[in-house]
Formats: sequence, structure tokens, C-alpha cells
Amino acid sequence: MSIKQLVKEKLPKHIAIIMDGNGRWANKRSFKRIFGHREGMESVKEIVRACCELDIKALTLYAFSSQNWKRPEHEVEALMGLLKKYVRSEVNELNQNNVRLQGIGDLNKLPKSVINVFNEAVEITRNNTGMVLSVALSYGGREEILNAVSKIANKIETGELLSADLNELTISENLYTAGLPDPDLLIRTSGEMRISNFLLWQIAYSEIYVTDVLWPDFRKDDLYRALIEFQNRKRRFGLTDEQISEG
Ligand code: FPP
Repeated sequence: MSIKQLVKEKLPKHIAIIMDGNGRWANKRSFKRIFGHREGMESVKEIVRACCELDIKALTLYAFSSQNWKRPEHEVEALMGLLKKYVRSEVNELNQNNVRLQGIGDLNKLPKSVINVFNEAVEITRNNTGMVLSVALSYGGREEILNAVSKIANKIETGELLSADLNELTISENLYTAGLPDPDLLIRTSGEMRISNFLLWQIAYSEIYVTDVLWPDFRKDDLYRALIEFQNRKRRFGLTDEQISEG
């Protein structure tokens, strides 16, 4: 698998990833689950770097769902620790690579120390104009849509918006991902055929790529494999083949 097989014009603008399989990776080795998450962080570093090299405009990573709070306390703590570690160790490189970091989700639920470390990195990278790296934290797709609807309802109540003017863009602009194009490609590792409440509105027309590779094993070559498959897919957006080729 080689980067040479990639056609720049056919690369997705926005890649979203459900990073799954850390626990299974650890179990297979009789390690504690946290070792899977730790190795998963190495995959995050490599994939972020690879996406920068390819000049991908947006990368969105599902790091912690609103349901993940129900995991054992020590696992939640370990994941929060890894997040801080990642941000602290990578912020300079992200900044040098012109990456803008942002968190998406119910970020107020995160421990104060995580919020502080994260916000500092968001601030440092605020004016960067390259790739937007969105990390989904305490994130749920339904919650995101509910939050958008509630913001819109408020704007209608105050007269800032008229209900007759509502359209799809109104929803998109009030989601956490406002300003980003919808993902062209959604990758899920570890073989599960589920969306798991991720970017429900935004993935309406995304190409979905599921691989059996567990997230800690998912590295550059696996990303290239997904991108090559993406390039060979025919995206129709509800049109016919004939309409697409006339296009
Ligand atoms: C899913 O694997 C993975 C997570 C719930 C956490 C993802 C976190 C990381 C990759 C590490 C740090 C992240 C960043 C952004 C630095 P799972 O535990 O559900 O695996 P399983 O399904 O095999 O049990």
C-alpha cells in the first residue's frame, strides 16, 4: 500500500473516524484495557500526521462518547489522563503543522484539568488555517442535534430567526461542527457495523469504510488503504449513474 496510489484531487476533504477496538487489542495480549488506549494514542498521532501530510482539510476523531462515562471509573480516569498527555505532547507539532484543534461535545462535563489543558491548546492553535482537528469528547449525535434545535428555538423566541426561514443549513450551522464540510468518509475500525451515535446529521451522504483492523494497529498504510477504496467508490448523492457521468 503506497501513498503514490493516492490522487490528490480525489481525497476526502473531511475524514471522520470511530476509533474502536482498543480494549480487544489489549485483551488479545492479556494486557489491561488502558494499554490498548495508550497504543491507540500512538495511532492517533500517526493518523493526524498522515492527514496533515495529505493536506486533508478536516479530521474528526470519536475519542469519548456521552455513554463512555458509564465505564469503570479507573478507565474513565485513564482516558482523561491520556487526553491531557496527548494534547500536552502534541500541541507544538500541531501548531507547527498549522492545525486548528477544537473539541466537540458536551465539554463542560469533562474534569476541570482536562478542560484547562484542552482550552490552552485550542487557544494556541486558534488562528491556524490548515487542517481542523476536532476531537469528540463527551459527544453524542442525538444530544448534538437536540442542542442545535434548542439553540434554534431560542433564536426564534428572541426574533433573531423566523421559523419560515429554517432550512438544512440552519441545523448544520448550529451543530458543534458548524463551518466544517460534512465528512466525505467515515472510517470505523475493529469491524463493528454501527454508527454509535456519531455525527448523525453530518454523515447523511458519507462513504462508510469499516475495517477489521483494531484501532491501536490502524496506522498510515491502513489509512491509505481506506483512501484508495474511497477514491474508487462512485458517490451518487441520490442521482443516477448517467447523471453522474454527464456531470
Ligand atoms: C474504543 O475502544 C476507544 C475509546 C472508547 C477511546 C478512544 C481513545 C483513544 C484512541 C486514546 C486517546 C485519544 C486521543 C484523542 C488522544 P474500546 O475501548 O471500546 O475497545 P473495545 O470495543 O475493543 O472494548
